[in-house]
Amino acid sequence: MSDLYLRLANTPLGQTAVKSLGLPSPVPLTRLQRPDQPFIEGDVLIGAANGTKAVASLGRTISASPANLFFASGAESLGDSELAGKKAKALDLSAPIENAFKALVFDATGIKNPDELKALYAFFHPTIKKLSANGRVLIIGQTPSSCRKPANAAAQQALEGFTRSVGKEVGKKGSTANLIWIAPGTDQHLDSSVRFFLSPRSAYVSGQTVRIGKSDPAPAVSQVKPLTSKVALVTGASRGIGEAIAQTLARDGATVIGLDIPQALNELRAVTDAIGGKAFACDITDAAAPNLIADFIAEHFEGIDLVIHNAGITRDKTLGNMPEHFWDMTIAVNLSAEELIDEELQKRKLMRHNGRIVCISSISGIAGNFGQTNYSTAKSGVIGYVESMAKHLKNGVTINAIAPGFIETQMTAAIPLTIREAGRRMNSLSQGGQPIDVAEAIAWYCSPASNGVNGNVVRVCGQSLIGK
Ligand code: NAI
Repeated sequence: MSDLYLRLANTPLGQTAVKSLGLPSPVPLTRLQRPDQPFIEGDVLIGAANGTKAVASLGRTISASPANLFFASGAESLGDSELAGKKAKALDLSAPIENAFKALVFDATGIKNPDELKALYAFFHPTIKKLSANGRVLIIGQTPSSCRKPANAAAQQALEGFTRSVGKEVGKKGSTANLIWIAPGTDQHLDSSVRFFLSPRSAYVSGQTVRIGKSDPAPAVSQVKPLTSKVALVTGASRGIGEAIAQTLARDGATVIGLDIPQALNELRAVTDAIGGKAFACDITDAAAPNLIADFIAEHFEGIDLVIHNAGITRDKTLGNMPEHFWDMTIAVNLSAEELIDEELQKRKLMRHNGRIVCISSISGIAGNFGQTNYSTAKSGVIGYVESMAKHLKNGVTINAIAPGFIETQMTAAIPLTIREAGRRMNSLSQGGQPIDVAEAIAWYCSPASNGVNGNVVRVCGQSLIGK
């Protein structure tokens, strides 16, 4: 669906009108143009608080791109920034800065107490105005629960508030700010996440916190086809977000089984035929569905690597007016079916080692929504499911969730105009996201190199003003 306001607001006449009326002024977001595109280009500044644990890993990842890498100098609290590697050139923050930065990357893992948070000010105060449009702010911290001392945990937790506020300030330029918390000793697992958050793939992801935990060493992967030889199941694949997920996983090398209800088989076939995948018609709420899905996988592929639980429905009514079947269907499609399918795939040992499960929650599951008690209940349940399963899965299998905000699809096209327009604008980027934005985040979770990313819920919502 097209966003007419976004287009008008970016015409010369529209810009004048928007300014004089004080209306939101969304910047068109830059998205990936081609799969082999470098994850970042232009000037990137890296800084680190003293006692850094991740700056060398960050420097290595960014040095693999064509970006011009600089490290912060000229401030006592940023002394360790020079550990960013040989390719990084010193940039004196106490002198006038001429650069327009594509990204500002800060390693805050060394910050041990609230006083040392001043390093954030030392790095960002002189540089934040030099962040270009569609720029990236990325901060790396240590997971607060892994800090032994309360002062250390407080300082690391503080990074979340800082990142979210920065996201709200830079969003008006179409830029994003995100935080990665790493468990001690996991800096070697940063690569796939740093690439994602610095690239145009994360255009609609802002104000998010991701946790990286302990896992086997991250394998080396092709940056263009990281999912080669993987088999993926995508539910609800005939249209909208599911269609984009199927196309994106196929782009990255996976063979895709697209699943949708029998009534959508023609549309589903059009999607899967175009990507060399297989179509499977099935209502996931049928009692026989988990078994039938497992049979289909066993017959054609012997096993499955990526399971994307995307199928979803809304049946909106205020609670007092809600018919019982609205409640039942919404819980069944959005929550119960996922659990039953996963259970069957595991029981029949079809989930391969280092597999990935991705569930789709919703901003409604985080913040609640008028007229959506059923949907919000289900989507909130998805978060509980993911967080619990992450602790139990074995053989390198991870599970994560995406909570989309307002994404332009047939589901959101059905929302009444005024509510739809409010939904689009109520985020730091003042616009709705595209199905591809959800799909790119799922592709990042699915990469074999993201094996330390487990039990996360990332919102793809342009940093929605509602919810956490
Ligand atoms: P959509 O309505 O365009 O597509 C959903 C797909 O799921 C359809 O192809 C539908 O046929 C399929 N489906 C529904 N019930 C099914 C069943 N019982 N068995 C098999 N397939 C079934 O929706 P959209 O917008 O693409 O949403 C995809 C996911 O993202 C859903 O889980 C939705 O709840 C979630 N989401 C979407 C948001 C948005 O802004 N579009 C916001 C937050 C979450």
